[in-house]
Amino acid sequence: MDSKLKFDFNNMMSQYVGEKDGFTVHDLEKLDVLADEAAKAFSAIRGQGMTEWSILPEPKCELVSEIKQTAKEIRNDCDAFVVLGIGGSALGPYALFQALSHLRHNELPRSRRKAPKFYVEDNVDPERMQALLDVLNLEKTIFNVITKSGSTSETMSQFIIIYDLLKKTFGPNAAEHIIATTDADNGSLIQIAKEEGLTTFLIPKGVGGRFSIISPVGLLPAAVLGIDISAFLSGARYMDTICKRSNSIYQNPALAAAVLQYDSFTNRGKNISVMMPYADGLKTMADWYCQLWGESLGKAVNKAGEKVACGQTPVKALGVTDQHSQIQLYVEGPKDKVVTFIAVEKYKTQITIPGGYDDMPAISFLSGHTLNELISSELLATEYALTKNGVLNNKIVLSSLTAESMGQLVMFFMLQTAYAGELLKIDAYNQPGVEEGKNATYALLGRPGYDAKAQEINSWPKKNSRYILGT
Ligand code: PA5
Repeated sequence: MDSKLKFDFNNMMSQYVGEKDGFTVHDLEKLDVLADEAAKAFSAIRGQGMTEWSILPEPKCELVSEIKQTAKEIRNDCDAFVVLGIGGSALGPYALFQALSHLRHNELPRSRRKAPKFYVEDNVDPERMQALLDVLNLEKTIFNVITKSGSTSETMSQFIIIYDLLKKTFGPNAAEHIIATTDADNGSLIQIAKEEGLTTFLIPKGVGGRFSIISPVGLLPAAVLGIDISAFLSGARYMDTICKRSNSIYQNPALAAAVLQYDSFTNRGKNISVMMPYADGLKTMADWYCQLWGESLGKAVNKAGEKVACGQTPVKALGVTDQHSQIQLYVEGPKDKVVTFIAVEKYKTQITIPGGYDDMPAISFLSGHTLNELISSELLATEYALTKNGVLNNKIVLSSLTAESMGQLVMFFMLQTAYAGELLKIDAYNQPGVEEGKNATYALLGRPGYDAKAQEINSWPKKNSRYILGT
């Protein structure tokens, strides 16, 4: 395999973006030393504890064959495949679906889709659940309930509702409609799966939700869609090999991206990371990145227990759509962002703009150009406008959207995040900030053992009606 991904950071350099915020060659030399330390720190923990994700690309023929076999049966027999999950347990499968399937997959006739319709249900909005139930033919539907912890309230609520419905509809055959993807020992789902005899795929112990895209969490739904998961894994392996080879920012693209971003938010006031792909297929990949970067690096304390309150706020934007929404702010507003573009060199199709408006020079110049040229030129133009205005930006260039390039991209992002975690000296794999809200929800819904939390919530100052308008 060759490289399907290039990381271009020219526009982070002072000679292009200006001296105020731009990096000098001297800065890079200093950062290369930091990068080396961070890469060594990551190598020391690689594959252990919650970094088991980093060894997932290694060939696992048995698992891959099992996934492919299950997927083949689903592809042949089913009309719909529904992922029930949230956070990393939903965004990974959804990102791969959008990047690698037809952009109107569900609207295509079965003969062209060659796979079931695909749904990712990552919310507990009752209207959304009802809407899903309204369109499914249960008899021809498989639900893949995905939860690492096996107890996430949102996912388990969805599961309980669906399984109850399936039991009422199909009696003892209900289990045939569910596949569980979860931890081997922890949580309620594995217990239920064993009791009910559900087909089950295991998420390795040291793989958290946002790092699970290359585990059965991402692989099974992808295989059901007909995505070549062996090529996806090879892509991830290729990127890992490239990055493992060197601890220098001049050779390790994920390390370079991590260090530049790290220095931008710790020393240059760039508290926002905008991820802006110029491809509709990568819109959810940008969401996946936002979760990975935000939840991994946003931490109150470092590994030594010192208060750090660190992190960089990730924001998704879509080129060219958001040029008509966000770019005004990015170009002229506060200089608190690093914009990362994702370019695609070769789109799967080419569409030419026909002629016919020769007397209207404001639009006739478009004739004969392709939409491919238009989108690529708009990306270059936006890069130029940002750089000219002193806004730090860089670009990930993908040769095209394929299983290999997606493997390289997700590994690039996960390694970048891991290196950034080591630079910040934080635990990038926990999420204690999510717990407070989860515990408060349990207390509000009367979960046993949460009485103290319920009391704490009840003793919180009552809201003042003076500050609530419209009543
Ligand atoms: O990255 C994470 O760990 C989280 O965002 C989880 O993916 C999310 O909370 C869902 O957790 P689970 O897979 O345990 O249901």
